[in-house]
Amino acid sequence: MIQDKIQELMELRNEARLGGGEKRIDAQHKKGKYTARERIEILLDPGSFEEFDMFVSHRCIDFGLQGQDYLSDGVVTGYGTIDGRMVYLFSQDFTVFGGSLSEMYAMKICKIMDKAMKVGVPLIGINDSGGARIQEGVKSLGGYAEIFKRNIMASGVVPQISAIFGPCAGGAVYSPALTDFTIMSKDSSYMFVTGPKVVKTVTGEDVDDEDLGGAFVHSTKSGVAHFVAEDEEEGILLIRKLLSYLPPNNLEESPVLACTDPIDRLDDVLNEIIPENPNKPYDMKDIIHTIADYNEFMEVHENFAPNIITGFARFNGFSVGIVANQPNYLAGVLDINSSRKAARFVRFCDAFNIPIVTLVDVPGFLPGTAQEYGGIILHGAKLLFAYGEATVPKITVITRKAYGGAYDVMGSKHLRGDINYAWPTAEIAVMGPRGAIEILHQKELKDITDDKERVKFLNAKEEEYRNKFATPYVAAKYGFIDDVIEPRNTRFRIIRALQSLATKKDTNPPKKHSNIPL
Ligand code: HXC
Repeated sequence: MIQDKIQELMELRNEARLGGGEKRIDAQHKKGKYTARERIEILLDPGSFEEFDMFVSHRCIDFGLQGQDYLSDGVVTGYGTIDGRMVYLFSQDFTVFGGSLSEMYAMKICKIMDKAMKVGVPLIGINDSGGARIQEGVKSLGGYAEIFKRNIMASGVVPQISAIFGPCAGGAVYSPALTDFTIMSKDSSYMFVTGPKVVKTVTGEDVDDEDLGGAFVHSTKSGVAHFVAEDEEEGILLIRKLLSYLPPNNLEESPVLACTDPIDRLDDVLNEIIPENPNKPYDMKDIIHTIADYNEFMEVHENFAPNIITGFARFNGFSVGIVANQPNYLAGVLDINSSRKAARFVRFCDAFNIPIVTLVDVPGFLPGTAQEYGGIILHGAKLLFAYGEATVPKITVITRKAYGGAYDVMGSKHLRGDINYAWPTAEIAVMGPRGAIEILHQKELKDITDDKERVKFLNAKEEEYRNKFATPYVAAKYGFIDDVIEPRNTRFRIIRALQSLATKKDTNPPKKHSNIPL
């Protein structure tokens, strides 16, 4: 008798595992996509998945749905481990009603979100869904909002990661948008608030899914996606790697890995990396790779606003967030998108106890009407605000330019930078030499009518200004820079600085919450 009951259980389990059935699974595979369960298998440590709510099905009797039940109801939920560390997750099953979200489906997701919060572990969502289940109407909308509410409550408490491996449209996009990191697979995922048909009706624009909300668009233009993966497998491995840098929650620290890369290795190449000509670019990523453990750097938002670099690295096995200007792109200038990108990253690191290392080579803010009309004042203020309120250890190294307001913004001592270093090549001043000379010597310049004489005068004054002000020593004289360091010693100095700050405690004044200029 009991054997029959066990047999029944096995059959029900098998039924649930088949989702929407063989035909739909085949269709999913034909599109080059994995099923919800296959994705979980790749993501988690082998054999570690424990599924919840396999026997849930919808309660809708409208529009012919009565009797059309699929066990699990279109989403697979549960927990498992990644590199032995616990995570909770959900994976949307496109083979059941196009992965569309019903009342019960939302209940399943909310259940694991609540669990992740209670036990303090990361939450991972794999998205592949046609949005609200049309037959369920407003119950489905309520379900989405229940999920949004939990995304909001979990923000800054446990890391939340979203993968988009298929459609994600309408209000459904807001759950990934509320999470910390979004990964999209190339050519098989898209996200938009309104699809191409509605766009055509309302604005007359002709655009397809890919050009409206594909991985390329969101990783380069909108910044919605932090990572693009060549395929789903790469996307899933990215999640595993990303988690290795993160703590399970806001009360714990990131894992510390054993490090055999010498902490005191001297990187002679860095003594030669800054070009003689101050207007010549170089690749800041070369510096980052050189100084980090095993030369490894996991870049976040690689193709969005490349004039600033954000990402994770390790120093002596400890996780850090790196923010760095990129002189190789737009001379490393701060603009709307780079400010938004870096501000969000700094706030993520601060929320999850990850120290921030800032490398500075910034000529200032980008001038122009496009920037001013777009609100660079507010967006630049976001970055300033993020640095100013961050209480994690903050180490700043100025490699070359640190001019004007951008000097203040980029992890300066005045915005609670803990340890601020400069290379001997640093130029820390209120503005670049040419701009300063043109203002300081306006009257004399007016009187010089000969062009050659004018250039001679400008060059001489620029040289004078450069020697006097475009150095690290004026800032060092006032203690704004703690030390001027030899470039090849940067790795060691950063590691020592991190060690010295390991027990740092700092707080902000009690308040309900701040009012960051959004
Ligand atoms: C119910 C749905 C569904 C949905 C798809 N299906 N979307 N069922 N509700 N939202 C079903 C289809 O009927 C089909 O069933 C199966 O899923 C696969 O869909 P196909 O259309 O065959 O697949 P494909 O050609 O790949 O197209 C996928 C798609 C398309 C682009 C997602 O299905 C689509 O446009 N669906 C509707 C999207 C939509 O308008 N959603 C509501 C948005 S409003 P069978 O039985 O044939 O396999 C919204 C509001 C959220 O989401 C607000 C939150 C605040």
